[in-house]
Order: sequence, then structure tokens, then C-alpha cells
Amino acid sequence: MNLQTTQPVYEPKTPLQFPKDFIWGAATSAYQIEGAIYQDGRGVSIWDEFAATVGKTYRGESGAIAIDHYNRYKEDVALMKQLGLGAYRFSIAWPRIFPTGTGMINQKGLDFYDRLVDELLKHNISPIPTLFHWDLPAQLGHAGGWLNRDTANYFADYVEVVSKKLGDRVSHWITVNEPWCASYLGYGVGVHAPGHTSTVEAVQSGHVLMLAHGMAAQRLRANSAASAKIGVALNLVPIYTADDSEATQKKAHERDVFFNSWFIDPIFHGKYTDDFKEVMGNFPQMQDGDLRIISTPIDFVGINYYSREYVSSQEADLTNLKRSAEYTEMGWEVFPDGITAIIERVHAEAPNLPIMITENGAAFDDVVDSDGLVHDIKRINYLAKHLEACHTAIQHSAPLIGYLVWSVFDNYEWAEGYVKRFGLVHVDLQTQKRTIKDSGRWFADFIQNQRNAQP
Ligand code: FCB
Repeated sequence: MNLQTTQPVYEPKTPLQFPKDFIWGAATSAYQIEGAIYQDGRGVSIWDEFAATVGKTYRGESGAIAIDHYNRYKEDVALMKQLGLGAYRFSIAWPRIFPTGTGMINQKGLDFYDRLVDELLKHNISPIPTLFHWDLPAQLGHAGGWLNRDTANYFADYVEVVSKKLGDRVSHWITVNEPWCASYLGYGVGVHAPGHTSTVEAVQSGHVLMLAHGMAAQRLRANSAASAKIGVALNLVPIYTADDSEATQKKAHERDVFFNSWFIDPIFHGKYTDDFKEVMGNFPQMQDGDLRIISTPIDFVGINYYSREYVSSQEADLTNLKRSAEYTEMGWEVFPDGITAIIERVHAEAPNLPIMITENGAAFDDVVDSDGLVHDIKRINYLAKHLEACHTAIQHSAPLIGYLVWSVFDNYEWAEGYVKRFGLVHVDLQTQKRTIKDSGRWFADFIQNQRNAQP
């Protein structure tokens, strides 16, 4: 594909050559793209309810229609083919499979993902399903959601059904997406569903989510092809400090526990540390054996990387950073070196575990130009710089096996609604017209060049 642009595109300092068999792809999630919330027997999710609550989402927007991917998946897979994707990470909507979370299977829901997987394979795109990307069946939400241990058991049962159906065709599974967001944003500060505001609940829901992850990993192992790889997607945040003062270092450590160790320690090391209790206030309520289930061996870890955390004891440092740094439309600092740092951190924690970047990308104020195209040069530069930083991690011997852009399409950015556009493909929400952005063309070229360069 030929990218027409008048602005400069960032050129890496040295040519990048990624390993053979590197997984090149992009990601989405069910509630953010599918729409069709009443179709084919889908049940209600906690996100339908949250979005319907006044004041919870930008302009009251919801995923009810989204980009209608449920009905347009063939057209969408064809676009992925044009983008040259080798893999597509999507999520399965639990309420499509079990409308009330448990009980009777909704065959039509299961059939949708069956068709989607076949359509992807027909185009030589590897499906990477995520089993939980936040759209918990509402009925389970009413029974306590992730505060209730039964939810983890029901999740395992749902995973059993999905893995039996798709397990013969899936090479990489992701159990749970960003348990930090689901528990802290959902139960701790209430900006995501179910909208609770209790740190105790955040800690408890995080624990039950990790338990669900461990149980799911065991079911997936039993029901998948021997070669299938099982992982989890964690949003991890490298912490940077402005100075060496004791106050700054202490704060940095606390932020690291809060963002990273909270999930890294139980999943990789089967423990919570005393630091956790100090920072989060308490340990979750646990049962014997929980940590063993949570630390069930996995085959790879997914990192979702967007930005870093910058800590200083001096307000002036933070103000200076705000003035000088580049930010995305989400207000997140563009900081490519952080992806190298976080990959290396995870590699140090789990030296034998392959790592995949399961999300990386940016929202910018894209416009469709008079020529009908979207010249999103900022996103191209963002991706180019982050890819260079991933390459650096590989040169430092990190076992990075893949990189997935967030996202394939503009979509429903949760409480932020539809204004934040992350796609390689622009979507006109009135007409549902899809237009590949310049960044999509650029990424397609990048992938093609990588494939061509392979011996
Ligand atoms: C991540 C989520 C994903 C998307 C991106 C921007 O936290 O996993 O669904 O919203 O952020």
C-alpha cells in the first residue's frame, strides 16, 4: 500500500528487523465494537447497565450499536486482511454465550464466534480470543459480580464451553483483560462498571478476577490443542522518578505496587507481599489454595502499554513535564521508552515467559480530509516509536513474540464514549463507513516489509 502524506514520518535510528514468526496484529473487544446487544439472545451486561445510568459515560453513550461489527464481521475481517494482520485479538461476550452468566447455553451466541474464527482462518489471520474484557453478565453483577467467588466458578464453566467449541482452532488464548482496570476502575473509583467506590472491594474483586484467570487457564489447558498458548493481558505501568529523594522513591515504590505488583506477584509468584497490604490497606479474603490456582503456569504474558507514571516530590517537576511532553487525546503522555522498560521488568520477574504486547496505540483527533482520507501522522509516529522501543527490548534479549495495535477500528472507548478514536480504520458512526487511515496503510507496509525481510 502506498502512503501519501506531506508530513514527515518518524524514521527509526537503525532499520528494525523483528524475529521470524513474530506475531503482527491488532486488537478489539466485544462491547466496544459489536453492538447488536439485543440480537440472537444476548443477555444484558454490567456495561449496558452502567452506560444506561445517567452521568456515567460521556454524553450517555453506550455500546448498543457501536460499529455494528456483529453484523459486519465479514467486511471487517476483509479489512484486517488489507491491513496485513497476521493475528486478531478480539473478546468473547460472556452474555452472548450465557445470557444470565450461567445455566443454559445460547447456541446462537456461540455460533457467532465460531463463524468469526473460521472467517479469520480463511484469511490466514490467527484468532486470539480474550475470554473476559469487562462485559460481565448483569445477573452475575447483581449477585455480587467479582466480589462473589461463585463468579470465578461460573467463568470457568463458560470458558469450558468456549474452549470446547473453539479449542481446535485457537493458537493463543487470553483469559482476562486488565484485571487492574476491572477491579480498580470498576470497584475502587467507580469510573467503570459496576461503578462502586471502595478500595476494599477493589482488592477483593482483583483477587476473584485472578482466581477466575487461574481457573480459566486450567480449563483452557484441558480443552485446547497441545500447541495452544495461554496468557493473560495486564496493563502495566513503568514508574519513573524525577529525583532520588526518599519521598520520591517511596512514592514510586507505592505506585509500582499499586499498578504492577498487585497482579504480577500473585500471578507470577503466587503471593501477596507485606508491601501490598501497606499500600492497598489490606489483603483480600482468601481461601487455602487460591494463590496456587492464581499462579497456574501460563505460556505467555500480554502487556497492554499506553504510558508511564512519573513521580516527583516537587509539584514543579510535574508542571514542567506537562508543558514539555506530548500527550494523546486521552491525556496520556507519549513515552515510547516506557515500553522497553516494562517489557524488561516483566522479563526480569518471569525470565522464561514469552511476552506479547497485546495492546499499544493512541487516540488522536483524526479528521476525514477533503480527499476522503485520514492523515493521522501522529499515530504513525506513535506506532513507529513504540515499535522501535519494542525492538530495543528484543535486542536486550527480551522474549517478545508479538505486537498488537489497539485498535483495528475506532470504537466505544468505555466511559469516554466515541470521541476518542484509536483505530487504524476510521469509522463514520452515522453511516458505519470504514476508511483505512494512513496509519493503517503505514502499518500494513511495515508488516509487509518485515515479512519480505525474512530470509
Ligand atoms: C485499555 C482497554 C481497551 C481500550 C484501551 C484504550 O485499557 O483494555 O479496551 O479501552 O485501553
